[in-house]
Amino acid sequence: MNRIDWAAARARIILDPTVTMLNTGSFGPLPVPVFDRVTELRRMLAAGPTNFYVRQAPPLLWEARERTAAFLGTTPQRLVFTSNVSAAINLVASGLTLNAPGEILMSDHEYGAMIWCWERAAQRQGLTVRTFALPTMTNDPAEIVRAATAAMTPRTRVLFFSHVLSPTGLVLPAKELCAEARRRGITTVVDGAHAPVLIPLNVSAVNADFYCANLHKWLLAPSGAGFLAIGPGNEDRLQPLHVSWGYHADKYPIGELAQSTGPDARDVYGSTPRTRFLEFEGTRDFCPWLAVPAAIDFQSEYGFDAIRARVAELAEYTRRTIGALGLPLATPAAPGLSGAMTAFELPRGTSAPALRKGLWARRVEIPVIERPNRLLLRVSHHFYTTEAEIDRLAEVLREIGILMPTSATAR
Ligand SMILES: Cc1ncc(COP(=O)(O)O)c(C=O)c1O
Repeated sequence: MNRIDWAAARARIILDPTVTMLNTGSFGPLPVPVFDRVTELRRMLAAGPTNFYVRQAPPLLWEARERTAAFLGTTPQRLVFTSNVSAAINLVASGLTLNAPGEILMSDHEYGAMIWCWERAAQRQGLTVRTFALPTMTNDPAEIVRAATAAMTPRTRVLFFSHVLSPTGLVLPAKELCAEARRRGITTVVDGAHAPVLIPLNVSAVNADFYCANLHKWLLAPSGAGFLAIGPGNEDRLQPLHVSWGYHADKYPIGELAQSTGPDARDVYGSTPRTRFLEFEGTRDFCPWLAVPAAIDFQSEYGFDAIRARVAELAEYTRRTIGALGLPLATPAAPGLSGAMTAFELPRGTSAPALRKGLWARRVEIPVIERPNRLLLRVSHHFYTTEAEIDRLAEVLREIGILMPTSATAR
Protein backbone atom coordinates (compact mmCIF):
# COMPACT_ATOMS: atom_id res chain seq x y z
CA MET A 1 0.00 0.00 0.00
CA ASN A 2 1.29 3.47 -0.87
CA ARG A 3 2.06 5.65 2.12
CA ILE A 4 -0.22 8.66 2.23
CA ASP A 5 1.51 12.02 2.23
CA TRP A 6 -0.31 13.54 5.20
CA ALA A 7 1.54 16.85 4.86
CA ALA A 8 0.17 17.14 1.33
CA ALA A 9 -3.31 16.27 2.63
CA ARG A 10 -3.00 19.01 5.24
CA ALA A 11 -2.05 21.52 2.58
CA ARG A 12 -5.51 20.94 1.07
CA ILE A 13 -7.28 22.14 4.23
CA ILE A 14 -7.92 25.83 4.76
CA LEU A 15 -6.07 26.43 8.01
CA ASP A 16 -4.43 29.53 9.40
CA PRO A 17 -0.72 28.61 9.35
CA THR A 18 -0.08 30.76 12.40
CA VAL A 19 -2.42 28.68 14.56
CA THR A 20 -1.80 25.32 16.23
CA MET A 21 -5.25 23.88 15.55
CA LEU A 22 -6.22 21.23 18.10
CA ASN A 23 -9.96 21.82 18.26
CA THR A 24 -11.67 19.93 15.44
CA GLY A 25 -13.84 18.50 18.22
CA SER A 26 -15.67 21.81 18.40
CA PHE A 27 -15.56 22.95 14.77
CA GLY A 28 -13.98 21.31 11.75
CA PRO A 29 -12.09 23.40 9.18
CA LEU A 30 -12.88 23.09 5.46
CA PRO A 31 -10.90 21.30 2.79
CA VAL A 32 -10.44 23.47 -0.29
CA PRO A 33 -12.73 21.32 -2.52
CA VAL A 34 -15.53 21.49 0.08
CA PHE A 35 -15.17 25.25 0.41
CA ASP A 36 -15.15 25.57 -3.38
CA ARG A 37 -18.27 23.43 -3.72
CA VAL A 38 -20.30 25.29 -1.11
CA THR A 39 -19.17 28.59 -2.60
CA GLU A 40 -20.20 27.45 -6.08
CA LEU A 41 -23.63 26.47 -4.72
CA ARG A 42 -24.02 29.82 -2.96
CA ARG A 43 -23.08 31.59 -6.16
CA MET A 44 -25.83 29.69 -7.99
CA LEU A 45 -28.28 30.63 -5.24
CA ALA A 46 -27.22 34.26 -5.36
CA ALA A 47 -27.43 34.49 -9.15
CA GLY A 48 -30.87 32.98 -9.53
CA PRO A 49 -32.69 32.23 -6.28
CA THR A 50 -35.90 31.03 -7.89
CA ASN A 51 -34.12 28.83 -10.38
CA PHE A 52 -31.94 27.49 -7.57
CA TYR A 53 -34.70 26.65 -5.09
CA VAL A 54 -37.23 25.42 -7.63
CA ARG A 55 -35.12 23.63 -10.25
CA GLN A 56 -31.46 23.25 -9.40
CA ALA A 57 -31.48 22.35 -5.71
CA PRO A 58 -34.05 19.49 -5.55
CA PRO A 59 -31.99 16.90 -7.48
CA LEU A 60 -28.88 18.02 -5.59
CA LEU A 61 -30.70 17.61 -2.29
CA TRP A 62 -31.81 14.11 -3.21
CA GLU A 63 -28.28 13.23 -4.26
CA ALA A 64 -26.93 14.60 -0.97
CA ARG A 65 -29.54 12.60 0.93
CA GLU A 66 -28.63 9.38 -0.90
CA ARG A 67 -24.88 9.88 -0.56
CA THR A 68 -25.06 10.88 3.11
CA ALA A 69 -27.41 8.01 3.97
CA ALA A 70 -25.13 5.49 2.23
CA PHE A 71 -22.11 6.92 4.04
CA LEU A 72 -23.85 6.66 7.43
CA GLY A 73 -25.52 3.30 6.91
CA THR A 74 -29.11 4.47 6.78
CA THR A 75 -31.60 5.16 3.98
CA PRO A 76 -32.49 8.47 2.28
CA GLN A 77 -36.09 7.96 3.45
CA ARG A 78 -35.00 8.07 7.10
CA LEU A 79 -32.43 10.85 6.90
CA VAL A 80 -33.55 14.31 7.97
CA PHE A 81 -30.97 17.05 7.43
CA THR A 82 -30.64 19.63 10.19
CA SER A 83 -28.31 22.58 10.73
CA ASN A 84 -26.40 20.75 13.47
CA VAL A 85 -26.77 18.08 16.12
CA SER A 86 -28.39 20.57 18.52
CA ALA A 87 -31.20 21.12 16.04
CA ALA A 88 -31.64 17.37 15.59
CA ILE A 89 -31.82 16.71 19.34
CA ASN A 90 -34.18 19.65 19.81
CA LEU A 91 -36.39 18.23 17.10
CA VAL A 92 -36.62 14.92 18.93
CA ALA A 93 -36.92 16.34 22.45
CA SER A 94 -39.63 18.79 21.41
CA GLY A 95 -41.41 16.59 18.89
CA LEU A 96 -41.72 13.35 20.82
CA THR A 97 -44.66 12.72 23.14
CA LEU A 98 -43.68 10.64 26.15
CA ASN A 99 -45.81 8.96 28.78
CA ALA A 100 -45.85 10.89 32.03
CA PRO A 101 -45.02 10.43 34.80
CA GLY A 102 -41.59 9.07 34.11
CA GLU A 103 -37.99 10.08 33.61
CA ILE A 104 -35.36 10.87 31.03
CA LEU A 105 -32.15 9.05 31.85
CA MET A 106 -28.77 10.28 30.68
CA SER A 107 -25.12 9.88 31.51
CA ASP A 108 -23.41 12.41 33.76
CA HIS A 109 -21.14 13.49 30.88
CA GLU A 110 -23.65 14.93 28.42
CA TYR A 111 -23.12 18.17 26.55
CA GLY A 112 -24.45 21.10 28.59
CA ALA A 113 -26.84 22.57 26.04
CA MET A 114 -28.35 19.14 25.36
CA ILE A 115 -28.99 18.63 29.07
CA TRP A 116 -30.97 21.88 29.02
CA CYS A 117 -32.85 20.67 25.97
CA TRP A 118 -34.03 17.57 27.85
CA GLU A 119 -34.70 19.54 31.04
CA ARG A 120 -37.13 21.72 29.12
CA ALA A 121 -38.74 18.72 27.41
CA ALA A 122 -39.13 17.03 30.80
CA GLN A 123 -40.64 20.15 32.36
CA ARG A 124 -43.15 20.49 29.53
CA GLN A 125 -44.24 16.87 29.71
CA GLY A 126 -44.27 16.34 33.48
CA LEU A 127 -41.16 14.15 33.51
CA THR A 128 -37.95 14.24 35.49
CA VAL A 129 -34.30 14.03 34.40
CA ARG A 130 -31.90 11.63 36.11
CA THR A 131 -28.25 10.94 35.43
CA PHE A 132 -26.08 7.88 35.97
CA ALA A 133 -22.32 7.93 36.59
CA LEU A 134 -20.22 6.81 33.65
CA PRO A 135 -17.04 4.86 34.27
CA THR A 136 -14.97 7.16 32.06
CA MET A 137 -11.60 5.43 32.39
CA THR A 138 -12.71 1.87 31.90
CA ASN A 139 -11.05 -0.47 29.41
CA ASP A 140 -14.16 -2.60 29.18
CA PRO A 141 -17.24 -1.35 27.30
CA ALA A 142 -19.36 -3.88 29.21
CA GLU A 143 -18.73 -1.84 32.36
CA ILE A 144 -20.41 1.15 30.70
CA VAL A 145 -23.37 -1.00 29.67
CA ARG A 146 -23.69 -2.31 33.24
CA ALA A 147 -23.64 1.24 34.66
CA ALA A 148 -26.42 2.33 32.28
CA THR A 149 -28.63 -0.74 32.66
CA ALA A 150 -28.36 -0.61 36.45
CA ALA A 151 -29.85 2.88 36.26
CA MET A 152 -32.80 1.95 34.02
CA THR A 153 -36.12 1.60 35.85
CA PRO A 154 -39.75 1.03 34.83
CA ARG A 155 -40.11 4.85 34.98
CA THR A 156 -37.44 5.40 32.30
CA ARG A 157 -38.98 6.69 29.11
CA VAL A 158 -35.86 7.85 27.26
CA LEU A 159 -32.19 6.91 27.42
CA PHE A 160 -30.05 9.74 26.07
CA PHE A 161 -26.30 9.46 25.70
CA SER A 162 -23.39 10.66 23.59
CA HIS A 163 -21.85 8.13 21.25
CA VAL A 164 -18.54 9.95 21.81
CA LEU A 165 -18.20 12.07 24.94
CA SER A 166 -17.52 15.73 24.35
CA PRO A 167 -15.21 16.34 27.35
CA THR A 168 -12.98 13.27 26.96
CA GLY A 169 -13.60 11.57 23.62
CA LEU A 170 -14.59 8.28 25.29
CA VAL A 171 -16.50 6.13 22.76
CA LEU A 172 -19.58 4.50 24.26
CA PRO A 173 -20.89 1.07 23.18
CA ALA A 174 -23.94 2.61 21.52
CA LYS A 175 -25.30 -0.55 19.94
CA GLU A 176 -25.28 -2.47 23.21
CA LEU A 177 -26.77 0.44 25.16
CA CYS A 178 -29.60 0.77 22.63
CA ALA A 179 -30.27 -2.97 22.73
CA GLU A 180 -30.53 -2.96 26.55
CA ALA A 181 -32.89 0.02 26.48
CA ARG A 182 -35.04 -1.50 23.75
CA ARG A 183 -35.37 -4.72 25.74
CA ARG A 184 -36.93 -2.59 28.50
CA GLY A 185 -39.21 -0.58 26.21
CA ILE A 186 -37.10 2.59 26.59
CA THR A 187 -36.74 4.99 23.65
CA THR A 188 -33.13 5.71 22.72
CA VAL A 189 -31.83 9.05 21.52
CA VAL A 190 -28.13 9.13 20.68
CA ASP A 191 -26.05 12.30 20.48
CA GLY A 192 -23.53 11.29 17.82
CA ALA A 193 -22.04 14.80 17.49
CA HIS A 194 -18.50 13.42 17.06
CA ALA A 195 -19.20 9.98 15.65
CA PRO A 196 -19.21 10.32 11.84
CA VAL A 197 -15.64 9.62 10.61
CA LEU A 198 -14.17 9.47 14.11
CA ILE A 199 -15.54 5.92 14.40
CA PRO A 200 -16.67 3.58 11.60
CA LEU A 201 -20.31 4.51 12.10
CA ASN A 202 -23.18 2.42 10.82
CA VAL A 203 -26.37 4.05 12.04
CA SER A 204 -28.57 1.04 11.26
CA ALA A 205 -26.30 -1.25 13.24
CA VAL A 206 -26.48 1.08 16.27
CA ASN A 207 -30.25 0.71 16.00
CA ALA A 208 -31.20 3.75 18.05
CA ASP A 209 -34.72 5.06 17.83
CA PHE A 210 -33.30 8.48 16.99
CA TYR A 211 -29.66 9.05 16.02
CA CYS A 212 -28.53 12.69 15.81
CA ALA A 213 -25.12 13.93 14.68
CA ASN A 214 -22.95 16.61 13.13
CA LEU A 215 -21.25 16.60 9.76
CA HIS A 216 -19.39 19.86 10.34
CA LYS A 217 -16.95 18.38 12.82
CA TRP A 218 -14.97 15.31 11.72
CA LEU A 219 -16.43 15.00 8.22
CA LEU A 220 -15.30 18.58 7.51
CA ALA A 221 -18.57 19.57 5.87
CA PRO A 222 -19.56 23.25 6.07
CA SER A 223 -21.11 24.62 9.27
CA GLY A 224 -24.83 24.11 8.92
CA ALA A 225 -24.73 20.36 8.24
CA GLY A 226 -26.14 17.87 10.74
CA PHE A 227 -28.80 15.18 10.66
CA LEU A 228 -31.36 13.06 12.42
CA ALA A 229 -31.66 9.41 11.37
CA ILE A 230 -34.97 7.83 12.31
CA GLY A 231 -34.86 4.23 13.48
CA PRO A 232 -37.31 1.50 12.47
CA GLY A 233 -40.78 1.84 13.97
CA ASN A 234 -40.34 5.54 14.76
CA GLU A 235 -41.34 6.97 11.38
CA ASP A 236 -44.45 8.73 12.63
CA ARG A 237 -43.56 9.52 16.25
CA LEU A 238 -42.26 13.08 15.82
CA GLN A 239 -43.97 16.39 15.32
CA PRO A 240 -41.86 19.00 13.50
CA LEU A 241 -40.11 21.70 15.49
CA HIS A 242 -40.85 24.13 12.73
CA VAL A 243 -44.16 24.02 10.86
CA SER A 244 -43.87 24.92 7.21
CA TRP A 245 -44.94 23.65 3.80
CA GLY A 246 -43.95 20.09 4.63
CA TYR A 247 -46.66 19.96 7.29
CA HIS A 248 -49.51 19.00 4.97
CA ALA A 249 -47.86 17.05 2.19
CA ASP A 250 -51.30 16.24 0.77
CA LYS A 251 -52.49 19.86 0.56
CA TYR A 252 -49.58 21.54 -1.14
CA PRO A 253 -48.52 21.81 -3.83
CA ILE A 254 -51.12 21.14 -6.46
CA GLY A 255 -51.13 20.50 -10.17
CA GLU A 256 -47.88 19.59 -11.82
CA LEU A 257 -46.05 19.49 -8.49
CA ALA A 258 -48.53 17.03 -6.97
CA GLN A 259 -47.03 14.53 -4.57
CA SER A 260 -46.06 11.13 -5.75
CA THR A 261 -47.10 7.95 -4.08
CA GLY A 262 -46.89 7.56 -0.36
CA PRO A 263 -44.96 9.10 2.54
CA ASP A 264 -41.62 7.56 1.57
CA ALA A 265 -41.65 8.30 -2.16
CA ARG A 266 -39.15 10.80 -3.52
CA ASP A 267 -40.93 14.10 -4.05
CA VAL A 268 -40.20 17.03 -6.33
CA TYR A 269 -38.21 18.84 -3.63
CA GLY A 270 -35.45 16.30 -3.20
CA SER A 271 -37.08 14.87 -0.09
CA THR A 272 -39.98 12.57 0.78
CA PRO A 273 -43.20 13.71 2.45
CA ARG A 274 -41.92 12.21 5.72
CA THR A 275 -38.50 13.87 5.64
CA ARG A 276 -39.92 17.19 4.45
CA PHE A 277 -42.49 17.15 7.26
CA LEU A 278 -39.62 17.38 9.75
CA GLU A 279 -36.94 19.09 7.67
CA PHE A 280 -38.42 21.93 5.68
CA GLU A 281 -38.23 25.25 7.52
CA GLY A 282 -39.18 27.68 4.77
CA THR A 283 -36.63 29.55 2.67
CA ARG A 284 -33.14 29.04 4.03
CA ASP A 285 -29.61 28.43 2.85
CA PHE A 286 -29.18 24.67 2.78
CA CYS A 287 -26.05 24.74 0.62
CA PRO A 288 -24.10 23.10 3.49
CA TRP A 289 -26.26 19.96 3.05
CA LEU A 290 -25.66 19.98 -0.69
CA ALA A 291 -21.90 20.16 -0.12
CA VAL A 292 -21.84 17.04 2.08
CA PRO A 293 -21.04 14.75 -0.91
CA ALA A 294 -17.93 16.87 -1.57
CA ALA A 295 -16.86 16.34 2.05
CA ILE A 296 -17.42 12.58 1.76
CA ASP A 297 -15.45 12.53 -1.50
CA PHE A 298 -12.56 14.46 0.03
CA GLN A 299 -11.80 12.04 2.86
CA SER A 300 -12.70 9.04 0.64
CA GLU A 301 -9.68 9.94 -1.48
CA TYR A 302 -7.49 8.91 1.46
CA GLY A 303 -9.81 6.19 2.73
CA PHE A 304 -11.58 6.32 6.07
CA ASP A 305 -9.65 3.34 7.46
CA ALA A 306 -6.35 5.00 6.56
CA ILE A 307 -7.57 8.21 8.19
CA ARG A 308 -8.51 6.42 11.39
CA ALA A 309 -5.17 4.59 11.40
CA ARG A 310 -3.36 7.94 11.14
CA VAL A 311 -5.57 9.34 13.90
CA ALA A 312 -4.64 6.37 16.13
CA GLU A 313 -0.95 7.07 15.48
CA LEU A 314 -1.48 10.69 16.51
CA ALA A 315 -3.40 9.58 19.62
CA GLU A 316 -0.41 7.49 20.66
CA TYR A 317 1.93 10.41 19.98
CA THR A 318 -0.31 12.74 21.99
CA ARG A 319 -0.47 10.36 24.96
CA ARG A 320 3.32 10.09 24.95
CA THR A 321 4.12 13.75 24.45
CA ILE A 322 1.56 15.39 26.72
CA GLY A 323 1.77 12.47 29.15
CA ALA A 324 5.47 13.25 29.54
CA LEU A 325 4.45 16.46 31.33
CA GLY A 326 2.88 14.28 33.99
CA LEU A 327 -0.70 15.22 33.17
CA PRO A 328 -2.97 12.24 33.89
CA LEU A 329 -4.78 10.85 30.90
CA ALA A 330 -8.58 11.29 31.01
CA THR A 331 -9.38 9.16 27.93
CA PRO A 332 -8.85 5.40 27.85
CA ALA A 333 -6.18 4.26 25.40
CA ALA A 334 -7.87 0.92 24.71
CA PRO A 335 -8.79 0.45 21.06
CA GLY A 336 -12.48 1.02 20.41
CA LEU A 337 -12.87 3.28 23.44
CA SER A 338 -11.29 6.39 22.00
CA GLY A 339 -10.57 8.03 18.68
CA ALA A 340 -9.44 11.46 17.61
CA MET A 341 -9.83 13.21 20.97
CA THR A 342 -7.51 12.69 23.90
CA ALA A 343 -8.07 14.55 27.15
CA PHE A 344 -5.77 15.20 30.09
CA GLU A 345 -6.45 16.30 33.62
CA LEU A 346 -4.97 19.64 34.50
CA PRO A 347 -3.36 20.27 37.87
CA ARG A 348 -5.68 21.31 40.68
CA GLY A 349 -5.75 25.05 41.12
CA THR A 350 -5.20 25.80 37.42
CA SER A 351 -7.19 28.87 36.44
CA ALA A 352 -9.23 28.00 33.34
CA PRO A 353 -9.59 31.60 32.09
CA ALA A 354 -5.86 32.30 32.60
CA LEU A 355 -4.86 29.11 30.83
CA ARG A 356 -7.21 29.81 27.89
CA LYS A 357 -5.70 33.26 27.60
CA GLY A 358 -2.17 31.91 27.77
CA LEU A 359 -2.81 29.28 25.12
CA TRP A 360 -4.42 31.67 22.69
CA ALA A 361 -1.73 34.28 23.30
CA ARG A 362 0.58 31.64 21.83
CA ARG A 363 -1.88 30.85 19.01
CA VAL A 364 -2.81 27.42 20.32
CA GLU A 365 -6.48 26.60 19.68
CA ILE A 366 -7.57 23.99 22.22
CA PRO A 367 -10.46 23.81 24.69
CA VAL A 368 -10.03 23.87 28.44
CA ILE A 369 -13.10 22.08 29.74
CA GLU A 370 -14.53 22.65 33.19
CA ARG A 371 -16.07 19.54 34.70
CA PRO A 372 -17.68 19.43 38.19
CA ASN A 373 -14.57 18.02 39.89
CA ARG A 374 -11.75 18.62 37.48
CA LEU A 375 -10.37 20.66 34.63
CA LEU A 376 -9.58 18.97 31.34
CA LEU A 377 -7.49 19.82 28.32
CA ARG A 378 -8.92 18.13 25.22
CA VAL A 379 -6.62 17.54 22.26
CA SER A 380 -8.30 16.91 18.89
CA HIS A 381 -6.00 15.19 16.41
CA HIS A 382 -7.55 14.66 12.99
CA PHE A 383 -5.47 13.31 10.10
CA TYR A 384 -4.13 16.76 9.25
CA THR A 385 -2.79 17.38 12.76
CA THR A 386 0.99 17.21 12.83
CA GLU A 387 3.39 15.85 15.41
CA ALA A 388 4.93 19.34 15.39
CA GLU A 389 1.60 20.76 16.61
CA ILE A 390 1.48 18.31 19.52
CA ASP A 391 5.09 19.20 20.32
CA ARG A 392 4.16 22.86 20.22
CA LEU A 393 1.32 22.25 22.69
CA ALA A 394 3.74 20.51 25.07
CA GLU A 395 6.21 23.38 24.72
CA VAL A 396 3.52 25.97 25.42
CA LEU A 397 2.20 24.06 28.44
CA ARG A 398 5.74 23.93 29.83
CA GLU A 399 6.16 27.64 29.18
CA ILE A 400 2.89 28.45 30.96
CA GLY A 401 3.93 26.18 33.82
CA ILE A 402 1.34 23.45 33.35
CA LEU A 403 3.04 20.28 34.45
CA MET A 404 2.86 17.84 37.26
CA PRO A 405 6.46 16.84 37.84
CA THR A 406 5.75 14.88 41.00
CA SER A 407 2.71 12.93 39.81
CA ALA A 408 2.81 9.52 38.19
CA THR A 409 3.54 9.51 34.48
CA ALA A 410 0.57 9.14 32.20
CA ARG A 411 -1.20 5.83 32.32
C1 LIG B 1 -21.61 15.77 22.47
C2 LIG B 1 -22.02 17.05 21.82
N1 LIG B 1 -23.34 17.29 21.63
C3 LIG B 1 -23.76 18.42 21.04
C4 LIG B 1 -22.88 19.37 20.59
C5 LIG B 1 -23.41 20.61 19.92
O1 LIG B 1 -22.96 20.70 18.60
P1 LIG B 1 -23.57 21.81 17.61
O2 LIG B 1 -23.28 23.12 18.23
O3 LIG B 1 -22.88 21.58 16.34
O4 LIG B 1 -25.04 21.53 17.52
C6 LIG B 1 -21.52 19.17 20.78
C7 LIG B 1 -20.54 20.19 20.33
O5 LIG B 1 -19.37 20.12 20.52
C8 LIG B 1 -21.07 17.98 21.41
O6 LIG B 1 -19.77 17.75 21.63
